[in-house]
Amino acid sequence: MRLLQNYSLKQLNTFGIDAYSEYFGAFDSIMVLSEMLEQSIAPLTILGGGSNILLTQDIKGTVLKNEIKGITIIEEDNEVATVRVGAGVVWHDFVMWSIEQHLGGIENLSLIPGSVGAAPMQNIGAYGTELKSVFKELTALNINTRAIKTFNNEECKFGYRQSVFKGELKNQFIICEVTFQLSKTHKPNTSYGAIEEELNKSGSEISIQSISQAVVAIRQRKLPDPDKIGNSGSFFKNPTITNAQFNTLKIKFPAIVGYPNGNGHTKVAAGWLIDQAGWKGYRKGDAGVHKHQALVLVNYGKASGKEILQLAKAIQSSVFEKYGIELVPEVNII
Ligand code: EPU
Repeated sequence: MRLLQNYSLKQLNTFGIDAYSEYFGAFDSIMVLSEMLEQSIAPLTILGGGSNILLTQDIKGTVLKNEIKGITIIEEDNEVATVRVGAGVVWHDFVMWSIEQHLGGIENLSLIPGSVGAAPMQNIGAYGTELKSVFKELTALNINTRAIKTFNNEECKFGYRQSVFKGELKNQFIICEVTFQLSKTHKPNTSYGAIEEELNKSGSEISIQSISQAVVAIRQRKLPDPDKIGNSGSFFKNPTITNAQFNTLKIKFPAIVGYPNGNGHTKVAAGWLIDQAGWKGYRKGDAGVHKHQALVLVNYGKASGKEILQLAKAIQSSVFEKYGIELVPEVNII
């Protein structure tokens, strides 16, 4: 098996940026991965679903795409099923599988783009649920030593859109398989206002399936479909500020949206800040800000990664000027 040269990544990143990698290969097993590592020219970039990256340049060295598949129940009792999933499985396909099997825990995470292997990288979260609440462990290959290591929940150091793989172990491990604990006696989480509203509207009883359908409906309404308009979901994280700073802002901007985040801090809705700074629906060339959710930057077709990045920087400056808050990208900028 040979690596391909000068390979277009346009179909492999949901922003639809037309960047090239010097060398490219896709692996569907650890064995193939090991062989590809032998041939690969440094530096190495690992690609999952390509749904959380912004490519601002062609990529030097080798890009390897994870296509390890498979969903297996490895253990179960009356309450819990332990499920091992290949890192290359499409996240939403896994969610749909769990609903068919009547296993609860990830229904709130329906329709999040990306792969199962990328999910723990940034501890994906939505509608009141985070990956870490169902995560048991993962196996990953150490790029330097080629040894396989298992990381349990604690060792992954999950935080808000954060893990050890985005932090101190960045670019050192390739996630191969992820093991989840899903529940047979699941108590659905409808705490997020929008879900409750959606369920009331449709008149559905609360179940794993109806919650998943509600989440899909909300996401389809608010978030652009990457197959139609290039995007990587929320471009920035929701920033955390002190309660004192929030209260001062609240005097000047009474409608500002924030949620108590413990320890004297408030998490502010970045979408609101960007929206109220006048950016929602903005477009320059093919780079823009989504018209229904200002936290999402979009590529209408031919925008380059640099143009999207320029727009992101302009938004950061404008939000800092208006509110004194620094927005940090959630998307990995390459
Ligand atoms: N808002 C505005 N204008 C906007 C966008 C939002 O005023 O243009 C306000 C909304 O009215 C709402 C608040 O901001 O009061 C929060 O908005 P929303 O419920 O849409 O959620 P979010 O905080 O903007 C986060 C996640 C999303 C996740 C949703 C739902 C981050 C960075 N983003 O967005 O995750 O789907 O909550 O749980 O935490 C992603 O990470 O890619 C992503 C889409």
